[in-house]
Amino acid sequence: MRTQVAIIGAGPAGLLLGQLLHKHGIDNIILERHTGEYVLSRIRAGVIEQVAVDLLDEAGVGARMHREGLVHDGTQICVDGVRHRIDFKALTGKTVMVYGQTEITKDLMDGRAAIGAPTVYGAQDVALHDFSSDQPRVTYRVDGQLHEIACDFIAGCDGSHGISRQSVPPAAISSYERIYPFGWLGLLSDTPPVSQELIYVRHQRGFALCSMRSPTRSRYYIQCSLDEEVEAWPDARFWDELKLRIDGEARVCLVTGPAIEKSIAPLRSFVAEPMRFGRLLLAGDAAHIVPPTGAKGLNLAASDVRYLSQALVEHYHEKSAAGLAHYSDRALARVWKAERFSWWLTTLLHALPGSAFDGKMQLAELDYLFGSRAAATAFAENYVGLPF
Ligand code: APR
Ligand code: PHB
Repeated sequence: MRTQVAIIGAGPAGLLLGQLLHKHGIDNIILERHTGEYVLSRIRAGVIEQVAVDLLDEAGVGARMHREGLVHDGTQICVDGVRHRIDFKALTGKTVMVYGQTEITKDLMDGRAAIGAPTVYGAQDVALHDFSSDQPRVTYRVDGQLHEIACDFIAGCDGSHGISRQSVPPAAISSYERIYPFGWLGLLSDTPPVSQELIYVRHQRGFALCSMRSPTRSRYYIQCSLDEEVEAWPDARFWDELKLRIDGEARVCLVTGPAIEKSIAPLRSFVAEPMRFGRLLLAGDAAHIVPPTGAKGLNLAASDVRYLSQALVEHYHEKSAAGLAHYSDRALARVWKAERFSWWLTTLLHALPGSAFDGKMQLAELDYLFGSRAAATAFAENYVGLPF
């Protein structure tokens, strides 16, 4: 088998790249380790920047998002029971789209099925070969049978535990990491959201977030310790703890109900540099992780994919190597901005065990955020997404 670009991973990054390349007449095959159902069962954040919305439109998969997604003009931040609002639209002229990442993945899968482009699900033992030469190859097994794809480029879109980054010689790659001493316990329920906008909560008992997927489906998170077990959190305990952290009005409006999903996620910042190794190009979670506080994971995958698809279009249609030469630097410049914002917001809103001084600094910083138009504008610009 031969293709122009072999894409490893059918998450949002791989699927979106495949869609954009196809649109520009560039052949690609996606290899995914799991089944499509498994990929769709993972629940992740749901706030999409306007530039990412535009890119999904360009890829031809935005129609359902525009019908069913919720446009948010601002967000709320609650500090020890008092709520403040950051008005994105007034401060930046921009908004965000609240639409589940699972739905985006489904729209991308449907888009790929509609163009008839090949995806191999259940591809085992994917291995990358010769990407420092001009003739890279990828091998994999399906039902025990070995297959090989010869290609021009390999796009490593296989997430943080994927094989692509691991295939790079350690001496050629640098990684930077921060592990936070807490996690998020998330609960999804078919109950109406507590507010029309997301509420980010800073409370002495710990961070909380009131988010949503639709007018009838809510997503809530509470900060928990890293050794917590989901089994120790029956629904009633979760709702009781959430009520202790939110403000009085939210407490009155909160509609509780049975969880349809409940899970604990650790929080981590991670960046691997560079993002290009000869003919292997990394994109999305394969190259970087952000803590979910800023909702940047999918948005960063989208910006990588935008730079990467443009670079490949320039290579094939304009016979220019400039885009590929600059891919890593361009992508990383935006990645570090989002890493900074996600780290800052995480540090600002979570209970930090053991430091009374840090707690006071959080309050002083939040006071500054609510009192200064410049600070609020900087927050809003980062939240709604910096330009590509
Ligand atoms: N071979 C083939 N596929 C693999 C391999 C492998 N060795 N390892 C991982 N994969 C697949 C995973 O099963 C997954 O479907 O790669 C895909 C990676 O998808 P994500 O983890 O979603 O990563 P990405 O597409 O970069 O996601 C970007 O969307 O899902 C969110 O948290 C994610 O916010 C981030 C954004
Ligand atoms: C979510 O809805 O899951 C969500 C929203 C915003 C975040 C993180 C997660 O910052």
